[in-house]
Parts: sequence; structure tokens; C-alpha cells
Amino acid sequence: MSQFQSIDVADYYDAQTFKRIEEFAKDKATPFVVIDTSIIAKQYDDMVNSFPYADVYYAVKANPAAEILTLLKDKGSNFDIASIYELDMVMNVGVTADRVSYGNTIKKRQDVRAFYERGVRMYASDSEADLRMIAEEAPGSRIYVRILTEGTDTADWPLSRKFGCQNEMAYELLVLANELGLEPYGISFHVGSQQRDIGAWDSAIGKVKSIFDRLRDEHNIVLKMINMGGGFPANYIDKTNQLGVYAEQITHFLKEDFGDDLPQIILEPGRSLISNAGVLVSEVVLISKKSYTALERWVFTDVGKFSGLIETMDEAIKFPIFTHKQGELEKCVIAGPTCDSADIMYEHYSYGLPNDLAIGDRMYWLTAGAYTTTYSAVCFNGFPPLKDYYL
Ligand SMILES: Cc1ncc(COP(=O)(O)O)c(C=O)c1O
Repeated sequence: MSQFQSIDVADYYDAQTFKRIEEFAKDKATPFVVIDTSIIAKQYDDMVNSFPYADVYYAVKANPAAEILTLLKDKGSNFDIASIYELDMVMNVGVTADRVSYGNTIKKRQDVRAFYERGVRMYASDSEADLRMIAEEAPGSRIYVRILTEGTDTADWPLSRKFGCQNEMAYELLVLANELGLEPYGISFHVGSQQRDIGAWDSAIGKVKSIFDRLRDEHNIVLKMINMGGGFPANYIDKTNQLGVYAEQITHFLKEDFGDDLPQIILEPGRSLISNAGVLVSEVVLISKKSYTALERWVFTDVGKFSGLIETMDEAIKFPIFTHKQGELEKCVIAGPTCDSADIMYEHYSYGLPNDLAIGDRMYWLTAGAYTTTYSAVCFNGFPPLKDYYL
């Protein structure tokens, strides 16, 4: 048996869907991403059915295409926004300010002012300077404070450390929010993107509970909301539990701490809604070896770290790659097309590609709908940004 993981498309897409994507892709010049929006609709329904008590705020950063924003708006989603530019994008498709949360804890004064003028009344924060600025520019708004979480080791794309603050500081900031005339509204956390350990939510919810209790007991401040961020799984090479298993466990953790009378629960899924809907299609540009006796083939393709695959940094996200070749799988280094030596996607992970894969063959990077199009450089080495198509 081969030591390498062979990729069976059937583990990722039903035959009809993949055929439709391939058919559409057939005569388009690579590289590009094709996104089947019906999969996003299904993923959204799955999220809502799994967490019937929660409000979904789609994390726009995962993919801000108007086709996706419109679809999710029509399905009733709200939106987690990272910048004034994302605010423009959602408002351009008709989303109203009451469905927006400004979730970035790093923001310019003029942007907060603009959000407020356009009607946004919910803001994340994790520092005193930011909070005081919000009090001046967005008076009376709802504030939720982001706490630090553990679980960095078990998330494929960790987020903590840069965002959030220690519990004690979160507590103090919510007291200060109250003093500044803001509404201390809730607590948020993000356990890390593609989080494999469902227990990460348990410890985060436990921390939230202790802040809720202290604020109520010591200051008579009753928080109303928990924002549990993203972190829900997409279907890459390394398998995860199904969303239903996450939902069951997380609901149990919430009820254990808060009983049946839950505060408002917000979820901010990005990856789990969008990734599975996208296939990135690239072409093999060159296959070579570094010496006549080298065992390892280098496969260079026309997409790379700088054209959408930055999440292969440290080989963090392992995209399933499908090709039509049937040869025995052989260890390969897989690299991008630019003249930058950082542009190598997989070198240490034992990636096997068929030994009859040849220059000109297509490579299908499955589960590539999220965090690809927007992560693409505009002109590195002259290459244009990654194209995207929506079915
Ligand atoms: C504040 C916030 N919410 C939600 C998300 C989405 O997370 P995920 O893609 O894991 O669902 C992110 C991702 O960076 C984020 O920064």
C-alpha cells in the first residue's frame, strides 16, 4: 500500500457537482477558482440547523464576492466585518447596518466614525485605547470584548495572541465601557481557524461564564451576548468531526455553564461555509529533479503562495489535490511559479502525486473556496490576481 494519501474526489464532492465544475472549467485558462454557490447555501443551512438558537454573522474576510454576500444576505445572515472596505462591499449588495458587527479589534478613528455614521452599533474591542476611541466616535454603541483563548496547537490556522485580552482585562474593559456610556454587551472569542479540538470551546465558554458572573455580582452589569467566532471545520486532507458533532458538544458546554436560558449566541463562520464550495484549478508548468539521482520530483504549478495559497505557509492547511493521472503516488515537492524561494507549498509533508503527472496536466485543489481569492497578490512577479468564477 502506498504511504501517500490518495485523493478520492467522492470524499469531497458528489460526482455530479464535480462534473459540473470540471465542465465549466474545461476551456478556461488557469489558474482560477470555481465556486459552486449551491454548496454555500447548503453549508449555511447546515450551520443554522446545527445551532438553531444562534445568529450567524458571516466572516466576510473568507470570501467577499458579491455573489456570496447576496446569497447569504437573502438567506438571513448577518455579517462580521473587518474593515471599512468590507462594509462597502456588504452595503453595496443591500445589507443594512443593523446586520453588521465591526469585529476587528484594530481600527482607525475615522473608520469607526464612518461605521457609526452609516448606522453600525456593534463593535469588538480588546484594549483601553480602542474602547475610549469607540466611546468618542460611536457613542452608546454595543461593545463586546474579545478574550484570549487556548487551543492554538490544535487549530490548523491559529488566531490567538494577536487578538483578545486576558480575562481580568476583559472584565475591566466592560466596566469601563459602562462608565463611558457604551453598552457592555458581551464577550467574544475565536478558538482558532480549522480547530480540531472541540474542547477548545469548553474552556473558552468557562472563561466567559466567569466574566458574566463577576460583572453581574460586582457591578450589576448583565451581559447579553456570547460571540463564539469561527473555527468550524472544512474538509481538507486531515479529517475532522462533522459540524453536527461540534454543535452537539458546544451546545452541551453552553448549557452546562449557562443552563437552558442562553444569552444571545453569535457565530462567525467563514471557512466552514465557503471552503468546501470551491475548487482551484491550476496547471503543471514544470516537473524537474535537483540531481540525476534525486528521488524527489519538484512539481511547479501556475498557482502558489502569492496567488491564493498563502495558507500553505508552514504547510498549515493541507489542500486535497486531485489529478486525472492514475500512476503510483510518488513523493513530490509542490511549488508555485514565482521567482521567490518562499513560494513552496509542500516540501516537508509527504505529498504524493501520480508518477505519470506531466507538464500541462491540470491539478484540482479541492476545498479552496475560502481565504484564496483575497489572499492573492495583485502583481507579484507580474502575475495577476487569482481569477474566480461563481456557479
Ligand atoms: C473575528 C473573526 N471572526 C470569524 C473568523 C472566521 O473564522 P473561520 O474562518 O475559522 O470560520 C475570523 C477569521 O479570521 C475572525 O478573525
